[in-house]
Amino acid sequence: MDGENARKHFVKSTSSSDNRWSFVCFCRDIAPETARGYVVKGNRLVVWRDAQGYVHVWNDQCPHRGDPLSSGEVNGCLITCLSHGWRFDVDGQRVRQLSEISTHHKASFIRVYRSKEHAEAIWVWIEPSRVQVTHVTRNP
Ligand code: FES
Repeated sequence: MDGENARKHFVKSTSSSDNRWSFVCFCRDIAPETARGYVVKGNRLVVWRDAQGYVHVWNDQCPHRGDPLSSGEVNGCLITCLSHGWRFDVDGQRVRQLSEISTHHKASFIRVYRSKEHAEAIWVWIEPSRVQVTHVTRNP
């Protein structure tokens, strides 16, 4: 199924209240433990798939200094921004190294989008919810 057919199939099979779902890419485009960047309706998105096969769609902007997370690395269920090594779990929470000393006191956010796989494609609900990045120390 090509992108246009996937979109038509999806639109037919959803109610009118679901008209904010937008096609992003095909499921096969995002292998486990990879990330790619896309622009959908003017929004820069990172689409990444964790090791368990779940897809995540976030704003493609690291909350540290704004570099693209789509250039990052996915290991297991974490995505790492390669610029300065900030790592995030599937909930958008930053995972800190035990050895790190906290120098950030202000809140930072990742914009996390609702997404789903349907008709061999990945779809995004374009209104993001904000996830506050807390500074919780966890085991690396
Ligand atoms: S910009 Fe991502 S860790 Fe610094």
